[in-house]
Amino acid sequence: MSDKAIGVVGAGTMGQGIAQVLISSGFNAQLYDVADEQLGRARSNIEKGLSKLVAKDKLSEADKNAALARLSTSTALDALSDCEVIIEAAPEQPALKEKLFRDLSHLSSDAILASNTSSLSLTRLAAVCERPERVVGMHFFNPVPVLKLVEVIRAEQTSDSTVERIERLAEALGKTAVPVGDSPGFAVNRLLVPMINEAAFLVQEGAATPEAVDAAMKLGAAHPMGPLALADLIGLDVCLAIMNVLQDGFGDPKYRPCPLLKRMVDAGYLGRKTGRGFHRYD
Ligand code: CAA
Repeated sequence: MSDKAIGVVGAGTMGQGIAQVLISSGFNAQLYDVADEQLGRARSNIEKGLSKLVAKDKLSEADKNAALARLSTSTALDALSDCEVIIEAAPEQPALKEKLFRDLSHLSSDAILASNTSSLSLTRLAAVCERPERVVGMHFFNPVPVLKLVEVIRAEQTSDSTVERIERLAEALGKTAVPVGDSPGFAVNRLLVPMINEAAFLVQEGAATPEAVDAAMKLGAAHPMGPLALADLIGLDVCLAIMNVLQDGFGDPKYRPCPLLKRMVDAGYLGRKTGRGFHRYD
């Protein structure tokens, strides 16, 4: 990899985590978002994330400052024009992502365009781009600085060299790349989110409280956190969107979203980010 910055589109939770891992692994990162305030929040959260590592003696104060100096932010998409790889982590809205990919493919004729989409079709995203062979899925997991997996998703059009390049980048970030086909939900979310949906059914039916469901899965299946606490971490809107993608993609009723999950999203109880989901947060 050269010294050119890696672009990150979207300064939400995932974009922040990806940018943090890039700069702490020695890469320059160019973080883009439409909202200046969001970029400010992102910089401050990334600084907090790096400070955690300093507090645990995993990073020196000097290395933290050097990493922060490798982070640039901008509200202008043009700032990404010199990037060799651009990782898109915008909200999971198909029309938004397609527009971004179309714009990014015009902005740079040779950058690799990777999407952190949690379930949308990479083949469809590649189809709106010039040179679709450089489009690939690079799916990180929340919290990005902690979880080691990157699913590398090959669209129908993706070239071998694009996949190899992204696998090398994942490795340079200390992650393990696992190849997955372009199938709805890929591997992890196809397994994880139906489990969360089923946990919501348990609560809806009054069979167990959220606390009981979470305690059961932590103690009985050694999960680091229960499925409903995890839903709150991921965002209930994101979980619902993934269930909808699974249901539309497979046409199988086993993927029907739990009505309680839908109602909670309608109510704005989206999890940690709104202070209330299956659990309450201060
Ligand atoms: N930057 C750097 N380090 C961080 C960090 C950050 N932002 N956040 C946490 N850490 C570190 C902590 O410093 C801590 O380090 P040590 O082990 O050295 O002490 C470690 O990570 C664990 O953090 P905590 O002690 O704060 O918390 P914990 O032990 O309770 O673990 C958890 C929290 C990591 C979230 C754990 O419960 C977990 O792994 N849960 C499952 C998460 C999961 O399944 N995520 C996948 C969601 S699906 C997804 O993301 C894909 C999608 O498309 C929806």
